[in-house]
Amino acid sequence: MQITFSPYQIQNNNNRKTVNFSGYLGNESVKVMGEYVRLRHETAFLRELETLEYIKQYLLENFPEIPVKNILIGACSTGEEALSMKMVMNKVPSRITAFDLGKKAINRAKKGYYSISEPRYEDDKKYVEDWGLSAYNDKFLAFKNPKDMTQKEKTYYKAFNKIFKEINTEDGKNKFLNRIRVFFKSFGEFHMIDVRTKYFKLKDLRKLNCEYIEGDIRNLDEITKGRKYQAFTFRNAFYHLITTNDDYRTPLGEHHTRKILAEILPKINKSLDMKGLFAIGKKEDEQICDVLLLTKMLKEYGFKEAKHFDNPYCYIWKKVKEC
Ligand SMILES: C[S@@+](CC[C@H](N)C(=O)[O-])C[C@H]1O[C@@H](n2cnc3c(N)ncnc32)[C@H](O)[C@@H]1O
Repeated sequence: MQITFSPYQIQNNNNRKTVNFSGYLGNESVKVMGEYVRLRHETAFLRELETLEYIKQYLLENFPEIPVKNILIGACSTGEEALSMKMVMNKVPSRITAFDLGKKAINRAKKGYYSISEPRYEDDKKYVEDWGLSAYNDKFLAFKNPKDMTQKEKTYYKAFNKIFKEINTEDGKNKFLNRIRVFFKSFGEFHMIDVRTKYFKLKDLRKLNCEYIEGDIRNLDEITKGRKYQAFTFRNAFYHLITTNDDYRTPLGEHHTRKILAEILPKINKSLDMKGLFAIGKKEDEQICDVLLLTKMLKEYGFKEAKHFDNPYCYIWKKVKEC
């Protein structure tokens, strides 16, 4: 899904509730090297789940000698991705380091309060689906009767309930100061959706062996501090680095893009063990940036496609060379 405008909260006349939905959507501005950068924190639990499942399987097969797998989750936003990786790893021991450039996002992640919502009415469900929010398939965690779940859904439902407890709505609401409750279709067109929401609190972040760091991928060495990882995700975030910092997000020119990537890619390479994985967003059209050039440069900087993809766009890479 592509959002081109800052969401904000509005109230309409007939007092129908403004929109809330599964998946956190929020923006913040941070100052980087003297300039304000607008960050978009859109995310959800179990987003692009196949990538996380692939990582788990690959780590089991390729790093059997490493008892606790080290995973780096870059651009982790408010933490849903890191916790999803934990749910996928489940009984396989893992140590997760998650970082994001957004201070507010990281603070939220550290607090560990989340909500999951779904539209109440069929028309609204369809609207959300048509708009691409069907990508957020975590609604089942809160609203589906376990009896009707598929085997796979049951597995994640159990993993979710192992680390979260549902909390009282009113208590939850007070903690969701930043929750964005408006979903909008395009410039100025608002669509009100009535939703039901459930609130959850992480039981114990420390026990999860998961840490959050406020950090910039451009300073990756400060985040990793020499530690090596077997997998690193930086999903749905490259556009923040190699497109214009405005509402239209136009890819930067080739020269400029090359210069930026030439600084970042060697650091990504260095942070990984040989054969380690690097994953970017699954959907090519949601990356907005120049994915052809990104792909070409990943190859120049020691990466190879990790598996065969039907689509030529590759979103899971493995390190095959030091650089
Ligand atoms: C759309 S969210 C993606 C969240 C999550 N990875 C996912 O796929 O659901 C993009 C995130 O990238 C983060 N980001 C942007 N530039 C970054 C940078 N230079 N270093 C670290 N994180 C960055 C933003 O703050 C934002 O939270």
